[in-house]
Amino acid sequence: MSVSAIVAEGLVKRYGDVTALDGVSFEVVRGEVFGLLGPNGAGKTTTIKILTGLTKPTAGRAYVAGFDVVREAAEVKKRVGWVASEVIVDDELTAWENLEIQARLVGVGGWRERAAELLKYFGLLEAAGRPVGKFSTGMRKRLEVAMALLHGPEVLFMDEPTVGLDVGARVGLWEVVRQINRDFGVTVLLTTHYMEEAEELCRRVAIINRGRVVAVGSPDELKARYGVDVVELEVEGPVDAAALSAFGEVAIRDGVVVVKTHGAEEKLAEIVKAVSGVKSVRVKKASLDTVFINLTGASIEGEQVDVRKLYMRVRWARR
Ligand SMILES: Nc1ncnc2c1ncn2[C@@H]1O[C@H](COP(=O)(O)OP(=O)(O)OP(=O)(O)O)[C@@H](O)[C@H]1O
Ligand SMILES: [Mg+2]
Repeated sequence: MSVSAIVAEGLVKRYGDVTALDGVSFEVVRGEVFGLLGPNGAGKTTTIKILTGLTKPTAGRAYVAGFDVVREAAEVKKRVGWVASEVIVDDELTAWENLEIQARLVGVGGWRERAAELLKYFGLLEAAGRPVGKFSTGMRKRLEVAMALLHGPEVLFMDEPTVGLDVGARVGLWEVVRQINRDFGVTVLLTTHYMEEAEELCRRVAIINRGRVVAVGSPDELKARYGVDVVELEVEGPVDAAALSAFGEVAIRDGVVVVKTHGAEEKLAEIVKAVSGVKSVRVKKASLDTVFINLTGASIEGEQVDVRKLYMRVRWARR
């Protein structure tokens, strides 16, 4: 059995003139929680649709649970679950009824026992006879996860699982992801716009921008490779900028020296030694947010331009 739950090799997806994926490659190890991060329109959902067999790639190959997503799509579908970003449960039906429909869709024999186990596991057994419209958003999300796990998939895809959840429900769902990964041994691939979520949950992440993977690694590796630590020193007296520049980019303004560097903690003593009359020192460690902006910044600017254009169009139309 392969150690890879997911292998994507040069996936390309074109919709007419739009290139949604432009050669996406990455691997997810069995048992891992893996994050796909990227700005709007980067290609995250398209990647999930290909990996779950919902749509075919224009070029490239992918294997999920050891099966080819195009040639063995039926085998793949048996082994994957999918929690979509939009709500898919039917509000007028009870949790039981939603689970029954899911069971018929994916063909689960003896679904009642399995559903009861899952409802109990997710703390929904008592509410299971009530229409889902009366559930909180957090409960609905847990029901969606239960539905996605009904047929016992090896790999679970979660597209922006915590969008629209309040802080409490979000933290609750993080716990759900950790638990199902641990208790059921499910490999999880999730997409998110929240860097904090990626740091909390993911052993490794891929950052995707304009249909290309621009970085893969653990959050710590990415911060070390692409992040910048900022050291701020409040000083009295003259500063030898040339000596400090050995540590990185230096800026001096109004008695504050700013040094942008990597691995600030190890260098801090030397940096402080290179400056006389230090009054205070502050270190801002690289964050996954800054890594993300460094690697995808161009497209964030691009989106701002689009928003301005849209605004002008709306104003124009109103005249
Ligand atoms: N069915 C489709 N027809 C045409 N273009 C599409 C289709 N689906 C996606 N696209 C385009 O492909 C690109 C990638 O879209 P995708 O939905 O994969 O991005 P995403 O990373 O999931 O974005 P978001 O964070 O907004 O969910 C976008 O430019 C999108 O407009
Ligand atoms: Mg999406």
